[in-house]
Amino acid sequence: MDNHDTIERYERIWVGFSLALIALFVFLVFFAVGMHGAHIGRADPRQHPSEILASLEFSNPGVEETAPGKYTVRMVAQAFSFAPGDMEFPAGAEVTFRMTSRDVIHGLLVKGTTINLELIPGDISTLTYTFDRPGEYRIICSQYCGIAHQNMLGMIRVVDPAAAPVAAAAPAADDAGKVAYERNCAACHQADGSGMAGVFPPLRGHAPKLGREYLVDLVLYGLAGAIEIDGVTYRGMMPGMAQMSDADIAASLNYILGAWGNDGMLPDGFAPVTADEVAARRGKGLTPTDMLERREGTP
Ligand code: CUA
Repeated sequence: MDNHDTIERYERIWVGFSLALIALFVFLVFFAVGMHGAHIGRADPRQHPSEILASLEFSNPGVEETAPGKYTVRMVAQAFSFAPGDMEFPAGAEVTFRMTSRDVIHGLLVKGTTINLELIPGDISTLTYTFDRPGEYRIICSQYCGIAHQNMLGMIRVVDPAAAPVAAAAPAADDAGKVAYERNCAACHQADGSGMAGVFPPLRGHAPKLGREYLVDLVLYGLAGAIEIDGVTYRGMMPGMAQMSDADIAASLNYILGAWGNDGMLPDGFAPVTADEVAARRGKGLTPTDMLERREGTP
């Protein structure tokens, strides 16, 4: 009899504890919504991903100041980068994010904020956030999207408009290529151009072997299918990076061709790739598979 009572009492305590826990979780949800502005992102009606990407809004992603202190960011995520990936706002800026994905599901998590959105192909995720505190806010992809997912990063800098203006940190012309490369290419091909065995081919010691027009097309249109370099097969899929500007594509190619000893492999009198050259290769309607077929004919 005593035993039976004991069990009952523990049961009551346990049930009470469980209910208290549920009540605590419900309270925390309301607390996060009420005190910290947490809410679920609203998705616009779904469309075919290609329609969204071709729309006026997303064919040229970037940051726009819509009113004093108000900004709209139109962002396209793809394996393994955000475009745009680096942004700067004055403290107090009210920023509306409108985002979509080009390929698979990605996540936009901004550390130190309540921003954590899923980016889904065919959906536009929208969220407005006010950046009150100056600082650096790291952008992280919060959905596992592939082998270089951990390198899918970005940065939001919030600066104090009252603070003494820092000398404009526009990258020197020499650095523009390195910056563009690190933002758009290094997630897969790595900062030292060595690639990733079996997946992402090396650019170091290899890129100069491809013709310049082919290189420009590679960046614009991507490449799908297995390729072999020095007896190693690489199966990673390269997405077209047409969202990069002509100047950024030219600068990153020139960086690739000049870095890591690649310059020693260039023919004498090699002229740097120009933005006009890139512009002239746009709109050819090539697919990543076309680029694989062309590669077979590449010496
Ligand atoms: Cu994109 Cu993980």
